[in-house]
Amino acid sequence: MKIKAVILAAGKGTRMKSSRAKVLHKIFDRALIEYPIQVVKELGADVCLVVGYMEDDVKKTIGDQVQYRVQEEQLGTGHAVMQAIDFMDDSDLVLILYGDTPLITTQTLQELINYHLKHHSDGTALSTKIENPFGYGRIVRNGFNEVEKIVEERDADKNQKRITEINGGMYVFNTSKLLSALHQLDNNNSQNEYYFTDVLKIILAEDGKIDAFMIKDSTQILGVNSKVQLAEAASIMKMRINNQHMLNGVIIEDPLNTYIEPDVEIGIDTVIEPSCVIKSNTKIGAECRIGFNTKITNSILEDNVDVESSVIVDSKIGQNTHIGPFAYIRPNNNIGSNVKIGDFVELKNSNIGSGTKISHLTYVGDADVGQNVNFGCGTVLVNYDGKNKYRSEIQDNVFIGCNSNLVSPVVLHEHSYIAAGSTITKDVPENTLAIARSKQENKEGRAKNRNSKS
Ligand code: UD1
Ligand code: CA
Repeated sequence: MKIKAVILAAGKGTRMKSSRAKVLHKIFDRALIEYPIQVVKELGADVCLVVGYMEDDVKKTIGDQVQYRVQEEQLGTGHAVMQAIDFMDDSDLVLILYGDTPLITTQTLQELINYHLKHHSDGTALSTKIENPFGYGRIVRNGFNEVEKIVEERDADKNQKRITEINGGMYVFNTSKLLSALHQLDNNNSQNEYYFTDVLKIILAEDGKIDAFMIKDSTQILGVNSKVQLAEAASIMKMRINNQHMLNGVIIEDPLNTYIEPDVEIGIDTVIEPSCVIKSNTKIGAECRIGFNTKITNSILEDNVDVESSVIVDSKIGQNTHIGPFAYIRPNNNIGSNVKIGDFVELKNSNIGSGTKISHLTYVGDADVGQNVNFGCGTVLVNYDGKNKYRSEIQDNVFIGCNSNLVSPVVLHEHSYIAAGSTITKDVPENTLAIARSKQENKEGRAKNRNSKS
């Protein structure tokens, strides 16, 4: 059976009060419209987006993973679906979704399709019951509990407004029935819009069978029409993700205050302390501690890594390594196991061998550092001359005294020792002590006058 999906994303989203298209507002760094696209793709459907308002921006965000049809004027959801008639016409089943309902799951849409097929329906809408149905279309059923039509809030009479079963804005149709109904849609309603929802009563009038599949979890159909609903949707998504991690064995101390993006993986018994943000394709091993106020983006942490109040970007960190507090691990570092990266250390584009200690107030940029190296406090890799960046190499077991500058490119060979306060500009051979600072002069008695004045 060939399934196609049409997702509507042409509307302006006036209620968002924004200069951006509504469907490009983000939850967890991903545009709203990306969520339904991913879900229908998981069902194996070809996807067509109906775009209009700010269509170039939408196309730029989504790219060529879908087809596009353009709705020049936004004359309603029904009119939007009409723009995709040629896209659908060679399919058996078609899913229609709106681009502003990011919380729908693949499982629910699969259940909708199963229900539709089992009941030999021609068109099935996804519905749910909510306490406050204001703003949604209502599912109107007859005395036999059969669906008759959907009535929009603005067109509903007093009795219809009391109906709490609402239209989730997601549907599955037998394509031929939908196409014939689309040709008969009109805009005869309070808003002079072509309501897509009217296709249901047209199919019924043509002796077709329509139905609604009611789900319990009403959060899945939350439509984002305002920035309040955007925050609501983000909060539901956040809790869904956090709950799943906790069910998988992760300890999240303050789930309301922990932001984990959808593609993150975390191993068992890892503890996530409050106020952490974990983004992109980050993978965290087992038994780690992600301490208070840490932000990790697109990084790999092996087992037993301990991080405290730090920022980690695009980097890999080996087992039993400790980071922070207040370390900034900038992109492209490969840090070994049993490493200690302490407070106010910044790393960039560097390899750090296992057992190395960079305990405090140090900058390591563009360097290949071996194993068991010790960086004294305040070491700086001087890697930039204003025009070019240079790499340095610090081999195994090197000891660097405090407050040293290593002017790149430079090589410190194995077991070399850098005296504190040195500015190293030349390579240092193996087992060599390098001192590169001016000699101390003691002027006896010179401080006496000064001391007696004060
Ligand atoms: C719609 C449904 C309502 C349902 C609700 C669920 C209709 C008539 N109403 O109302 O029954 O309860 O969704 O969330 O369908 N769009 C276009 N072109 C247009 C108009 C809209 O592409 O000309 C797109 C919008 O970008 C949006 C989607 O269609 O992604 C839904 O439009 P919206 O105005 O948000 O419909 P609702 O009033 O929420
Ligand atoms: Ca909506």
